[in-house]
Amino acid sequence: MKIAILPGDGIGTEIVAQALRVLEVLDLRFETETALVGGAAYEAHGHPLPEGTLKLAQAADAILFGAVGDWKYDKLERALRPEQAILGLRKQLGLFANLRPALCYPQLTHASSLKPELVAGLDLLIIRELTGDIYFGQPRGRRTAVDGHFPGAEEAFDTMRYSRPEIERIAHVAFQAARRRHRKVTSVDKANVLETFQFWKDVVTEVHAQYPDVELQHMYVDNAAMQLVKAPKAFDVVVTGNMFGDILSDEAAMLTGSIGMLPSASLDRQNKGLYEPSHGSAPDIAGKDLANPLATILSLAMMLRYSLDQAAAADRIEAAVQAVLAAGLRTADIWSEGTTRIGTRAMGDAVVAALTGKAMTPS
Ligand code: IPM
Ligand code: MG
Repeated sequence: MKIAILPGDGIGTEIVAQALRVLEVLDLRFETETALVGGAAYEAHGHPLPEGTLKLAQAADAILFGAVGDWKYDKLERALRPEQAILGLRKQLGLFANLRPALCYPQLTHASSLKPELVAGLDLLIIRELTGDIYFGQPRGRRTAVDGHFPGAEEAFDTMRYSRPEIERIAHVAFQAARRRHRKVTSVDKANVLETFQFWKDVVTEVHAQYPDVELQHMYVDNAAMQLVKAPKAFDVVVTGNMFGDILSDEAAMLTGSIGMLPSASLDRQNKGLYEPSHGSAPDIAGKDLANPLATILSLAMMLRYSLDQAAAADRIEAAVQAVLAAGLRTADIWSEGTTRIGTRAMGDAVVAALTGKAMTPS
């Protein structure tokens, strides 16, 4: 079994390094191979997703991905920007199912921007469709308007679209996930305005007929954004399209105290997956030993569980993270009065120590 390691840009290299230390100490004997991606790949090879990196990702059994992006690439033509690397990997590898759990650890309820009682015990799973919608719909571009409010003016446009099979397969993922949880799915749409999402709602409703044991609720995306901050614990599984999922998953992440805690999995039909923290490359804190490596370490746990058939090892990592939090160790993003602030590397040390049964003292 081979794991492709794609650290990327910004804090990506620091956080992935800590996850690799965790993998090493588990002694599972997976082969790993590292490649450049994003801005780092652009600098070295002139492209954010070089052929060699794509081939490695295709050949591997699973991919551990850090983060890509830096403001300094904002002026590049779109095809060469770092974000194209992750979008390209999702598309080329058919990683259509993005699982973004938002779990509020009991030790971190005070790090949330919401009142502790609203988030204590929060455990929801956002399932975001990842290879369709307005992210990938064609045509898109710039042109001269022929109609609208300003005929003759320069305009830009994108295409929102979903096909029946794309909606069906993500709906199945959601209903099946709900069966392993609290049997409730909230499908988020904008059926009151958009044709694409009326179709989404219709198809999800049809697929639901095969899951009579799971409760299905439909919710407009604006209301979902509101309910997420009003009563987040009312959700179990949330399934939605690519763009709404992008937005709602950041919102859900913040409920838990820090986006620095949240892992994600992007799976294809065979459960081969790319695993990455839900957060971005945070160039402002890169190289300063400030980033929280826990989302990446927890992404490694998800990889072991979903793609590499190592559930016991995944449990061990998750327990180690809990132990580290219980010991009061915190990176800056989750620090609060009365806890010990440590850096990226020391957080890696602490998880490794918890896994190997050594005492946990910040280094
Ligand atoms: C995410 C990110 C990406 C997205 C960007 C980096 C292209 O925000 O994974 O949520 O929009 O999907
Ligand atoms: Mg996003």
